[in-house]
Amino acid sequence: MRAIISGVGHYVPDKILSNSDLEKMVDTDDEWITSRTGIKERRILDKEKGTSYMATKAAQVVLEETRTSPEELDLILLATVTPDMPVPSAVSFVQRDLGASNSWGFDINGGCTGFMCALTTGTQFIESGRHQKVLVIGADKMSAITNYEDRTTCVLFGDAAGAVLLESSGKDDLGIQDFIMHLDGAGAESLTIAGGGSIYPASHETVDKKMHYIYQDGKTVFKHAVVGMADVSAKIVERNNLGDNDIRFFIPHQANYRIIDAAAKKIGLDPERVVININKYGNTTAATIPLAMSETYRSNKLQKGDWVVLAAFGAGFTWGSVLLRWALD
Ligand code: UT7
Repeated sequence: MRAIISGVGHYVPDKILSNSDLEKMVDTDDEWITSRTGIKERRILDKEKGTSYMATKAAQVVLEETRTSPEELDLILLATVTPDMPVPSAVSFVQRDLGASNSWGFDINGGCTGFMCALTTGTQFIESGRHQKVLVIGADKMSAITNYEDRTTCVLFGDAAGAVLLESSGKDDLGIQDFIMHLDGAGAESLTIAGGGSIYPASHETVDKKMHYIYQDGKTVFKHAVVGMADVSAKIVERNNLGDNDIRFFIPHQANYRIIDAAAKKIGLDPERVVININKYGNTTAATIPLAMSETYRSNKLQKGDWVVLAAFGAGFTWGSVLLRWALD
């Protein structure tokens, strides 16, 4: 019994932060940002709203389009690195606001690989027969942890949410077919938010030292991301006896256009099969893959039976790939 994606949706805030806006805030320019990252603009959520607001909006699209009532949900998994608060889980607010009164749920912190961690976890609950309807959401309000005085990070991130509904297919040839997931804590210090946890609880000192903002050693992450994403993508295609031409779409995490390009080249995919929307949204962490999947589906490019590869790399280091056969008409 396979888990299929029976619905997909997304939400992005209206407010746009463009490269020219950023030129007025830090010492940067459109040429540098575009050539180094591929990003032109990103979306920013209102200050007073949290990640759960976007997650709930994306989930509502999925429930509406699949004609699923919130009470039918068995489980909600929310991948995020920006929960509304440290406690409770952000999914608690989503479950409440959706009215999903029969569902349990939890947050998953898998960095930029978070959506895939949640997707593969949800898949297990469907495949085991334990649950019938699992909602998987990737959502991040990166603007809440971005230092808009640091040009090395503030040009990269944006806010968004994406969601999918997982159900049982009853057929083995559709849905999530395979996944490869990795964690290597040797890279733990390369991408962090050091403050606000149990080692450095919030204090005047952590605020003064800007420890509540995202920090990354961009070059180190870049190098590992290119190799990691290419390796797991090639491996999942090979071990399922597929050729590059069998893959209709490669939907990668959107951290940097150059990382995506290098990974796609390594696995020999022509650009027409690679989904890229980083130009519009920047890096929205756990939301990039479901957002890109939702946009691709809405542009009528995905057909039932299409082979799709998802791949991501992020904090941890975490990385992985998922192979699926599209199940929606
Ligand atoms: O999603 C989670 C995983 N994250 C990633 O995958 C991100 C991986 N890393 C990257 O995408 C890239 O490393 C960055 C986009 C973050 C940086 O690009 P880069 O080509 O590695 O640039 P760099 O860090 O080597 O910086 C090159 C130069 C530096 O100046 P100097 O030292 O050569 O004089 C930076 O200070 O560019 C400078 N720089 C900027 N200049 C203008 C850094 N940020 C900016 C900026 N505008 N925004």
